[in-house]
Amino acid sequence: MAEIVALFLALCVQLLALPVYVLSFLGLWDPFCKKVFFPFFMEKTMVNYNQKMLRHKQDLFRNMMDFADPSGKLSVLELGTGTGTNFQFFPPNCRITCTDPNPHFKERLAKSMAKNKHLEYGNFITTPGEDLSQIPDASVDVVVCTLVLCSVKNVEAVLREICRVLKPGGAFYFLEHVAAERSSWSFFWQQVYRPTWALVFDGCSLTRAIWADIEKASFSEIKLKHIHAPFPWTPIQAHIVGYAVK
Ligand SMILES: C[S@@+](CC[C@H](N)C(=O)[O-])C[C@H]1O[C@@H](n2cnc3c(N)ncnc32)[C@H](O)[C@@H]1O
Repeated sequence: MAEIVALFLALCVQLLALPVYVLSFLGLWDPFCKKVFFPFFMEKTMVNYNQKMLRHKQDLFRNMMDFADPSGKLSVLELGTGTGTNFQFFPPNCRITCTDPNPHFKERLAKSMAKNKHLEYGNFITTPGEDLSQIPDASVDVVVCTLVLCSVKNVEAVLREICRVLKPGGAFYFLEHVAAERSSWSFFWQQVYRPTWALVFDGCSLTRAIWADIEKASFSEIKLKHIHAPFPWTPIQAHIVGYAVK
């Protein structure tokens, strides 16, 4: 019965978002979303997100330097960097390589780089996380991925690439919204919003069990916590946070 109600409500949400569905049908939504809407939306909303998640992000990135090379330098590869909202949490002595399949974040990313002068920046690589072929095997100390695995086409392939490019003993840091517990109201509302959310927010899936994918990947050690993010009335309260060592 709950499934039928969720389906009905999902149709109602789709009806409310009809203009977006029409634009999508005409092939106009995706380019507009990638070029204008999503970069603008991320720049505006991530300020609030970072304020609310401040403690979690500070705790997450606190021990990054434990993975630095003997000279005290840390090479960091960030996947789906977006507007660069994590830079403020990275310690000095990091050299960051930014990647994103969407080149339209570059202008806002440059603004974040200008604000975070304590870091050194490498080239921006326009590529999805599924294809990091420009990064050699076992060449980076740390890979960072926040709010990205919900949007990638193939989580398993991205995790495989992460394991490939990490040095042995290197770490993968993650913070992702995930599927809520199946019996919860939260999961019910995730089902309701899922199709429209994915269309509006550039392929973002609300119901991925990303923790299971990380557990299945070939890391030697995983520190993973399920947390309840402080975003009431939204379908992105269930999060996972932590790091995994190659
Ligand atoms: C919700 S934004 C998060 C941006 C940034 N990581 C943050 O935390 O502010 C999702 C990002 O993932 C990127 N993305 C989408 N598909 C991807 C893929 N297959 N591989 C890597 N990044 C991807 C998007 O272009 C976007 O920049």
